[in-house]
Amino acid sequence: MLKNIAVLVSGGGTNLQSIIDATEAGEINGQIKVVISNKENAYGLERARKHNIEAVFENDEKKVIEILKEKEIDIVVMAGYLKIISADFVNEFKNRMINIHPSLIPSFCGKGYYGKKVHQGVLDYGAKVTGATVHFVTEGADEGPIIMQESVKVEQDDDADTLAARVLKVEHQILKKSVALLCDDKVRVDGRRVYINE
Ligand code: GRF
Repeated sequence: MLKNIAVLVSGGGTNLQSIIDATEAGEINGQIKVVISNKENAYGLERARKHNIEAVFENDEKKVIEILKEKEIDIVVMAGYLKIISADFVNEFKNRMINIHPSLIPSFCGKGYYGKKVHQGVLDYGAKVTGATVHFVTEGADEGPIIMQESVKVEQDDDADTLAARVLKVEHQILKKSVALLCDDKVRVDGRRVYINE
């Protein structure tokens, strides 16, 4: 039985695109039932429309939750969704809501660390390695149990743009793998630890 997936976006939606492509390629035993954005002109909504996936602009959290329930969503994917969500929303989808973050959590994450600011923080600190993280969403920002991470070497001539581009490629890979594992019920959470049954 295919799992019902919802993807929440606020921007360009390249992470969304990686999930769309993976479902269409049969790499994920799930189907994206809806893409929701809090930004009316988010290109992610356009990506959904191009693949005949319902695309909804909705900024009211209560209405977002209603849509997710009405569509019997099993897994909620935050893919560049730049809106703080309430504890009610998180608890409604406990261990069924994931987020992709462009650093190796717990470094360069939390308040103020999003988009390019993450990579600029890595460069300013002089870190030699960064990467991407898929984690469960909990009340705090970027604090939930970690599902998957992959590292990316920081090159000496990197700027925030070149580093962001390399990390983004890794995000696409670990996000679609994480969604596939969740759809196959191969992910088990025990406190802070997440066990993958490959
Ligand atoms: C990416 O940097 C991602 O890490 C972060 O938001 C940005 C949006 O990427 N979550 P996209 O909208 O999926 O292209």
